Amino acid sequence: MNIAVIGTGYVGLVVGSCFAESGNDVVCVDNNEKKVADLKKGMIPIYEPGLPELIERNVRDQRLSFSTDLAGAVKRSQVIFTAVGTPTTTSGAADLSAVYSVATAIGKAMNDYKVIVTKSTVPVGTAEAVQALVQKETSLPFDMVSNPEFLKQGAAVDDFMRPDRIVLGSCSPRAIDILQELYAPFVRTGSPIQVVDIRTAEMVKYAANAFLASRISFMNEISNLCEAVGADVDMVRKGIAADSRIGSAFLFPGVGYGGSCFPKDTRALIQTGLQYSTPMRILEAVEAVNGDQAIRFVNRVIRHYNDKLDGKRFGVWALSFKPKTNDMRDAPAIPIIERLLTKGASISAYDPEAMDEGKRIFGSRIEFAPNNYDCLTGADALLLVTEWQEFRNPNFERIKGAMRNPIIFDGRNIFEAGHIRNLGFTYYSIGRK
Ligand SMILES: NC(=O)c1ccc[n+]([C@@H]2O[C@H](COP(=O)([O-])OP(=O)(O)OC[C@H]3O[C@@H](n4cnc5c(N)ncnc54)[C@H](O)[C@@H]3O)[C@@H](O)[C@H]2O)c1
Repeated sequence: MNIAVIGTGYVGLVVGSCFAESGNDVVCVDNNEKKVADLKKGMIPIYEPGLPELIERNVRDQRLSFSTDLAGAVKRSQVIFTAVGTPTTTSGAADLSAVYSVATAIGKAMNDYKVIVTKSTVPVGTAEAVQALVQKETSLPFDMVSNPEFLKQGAAVDDFMRPDRIVLGSCSPRAIDILQELYAPFVRTGSPIQVVDIRTAEMVKYAANAFLASRISFMNEISNLCEAVGADVDMVRKGIAADSRIGSAFLFPGVGYGGSCFPKDTRALIQTGLQYSTPMRILEAVEAVNGDQAIRFVNRVIRHYNDKLDGKRFGVWALSFKPKTNDMRDAPAIPIIERLLTKGASISAYDPEAMDEGKRIFGSRIEFAPNNYDCLTGADALLLVTEWQEFRNPNFERIKGAMRNPIIFDGRNIFEAGHIRNLGFTYYSIGRK
């Protein structure tokens, strides 16, 4: 099948590459000329495990190409996925300007029947608005499908290749047939394709992210109470996770969720609730708890030094909002570092993949170390903010040798407290005794 994917970011690049891998001819379109030029040269703008091999193979076999020519891509394609960004506006609602401008451009380029599929996370009612914009430009037939994407950065290729479910929202049997054919290779192991109406599909995505964000904030709030009452959140977590009605995912306390999805999608759903006079009171609390969590972590650091951070130096592991991505959108590391800087501290940071992003955000206001040990040279404390795998079993003697003072603030509870203290560290973690 000939497919166009418009918006070649974390989602579009994975979606396009995976559809090419299953034999389709895919053109990935972006209006960022540098990004497209880099991709044509084989330079991949994001870190995502497994993606470079997929892109290389499918470009070589001429099933995958990159372009800035949206109209050309639309004309040659039967199915058009839109995967442009929908960032937060100042009100908290989703910014749909890219979605709408792409809709108009698709309408202008129409030359035959097309299936137009929204992959971006968009508020309920957006597909109908897109349909109206396309219709304004053309009288040719097309069908709209809402097909929200559930991949996780860091495991995106695997998630797309082996989805838990595919949600297709449309009232067109013709469009559903085409998409079922397209997705057939990905659901051979029995994952369901759920066909619903468009508004329901749009809602499923927000409900999923809101629920996962709620679990994290719930556990963070429980961890705060554990600290206050002298309970151990690790054991509480295991105690509830063993309950088959609850399960273990997304129950780890920490410095709060970040990234390009949970923060913006919870805010957007709160805005949708207000718009429809149905306040999302749980989500408002989820967001408030999350906002406090990074500040709570940094306040513990400040308290340890009696609010005297002038001249103190901290090593920060790491910058990305979660492991296995270079994405720093809404990363907890940002407010943590900013607050320490305003208190007069100096920061050395290390991240396995997000150093370029970190430099773009902090510039020369912080130092960037070539590895996690150099990051700690002369440090008064290590701040563990992102739990990359390589941090889990480090050489603690080397860490101690590099630091001015052996203090660890563990924002992800990755170390065992007794062990760390036996090694001579002062150790703080989240919600543990
Ligand atoms: N990142 C995730 O993990 C994830 C998961 C599921 C869903 N989503 C949703 O998917 C959408 C895309 O997310 P992302 O993380 O890939 O964003 P992104 O910012 O990484 O990528 C968006 C891309 O769209 C391009 N773009 C913007 N306007 C354009 C236009 N007019 N024409 C062509 N290209 C244009 C940008 O240059 C950029 O490359 C969002 O709605 C997001 O909420 C993201």
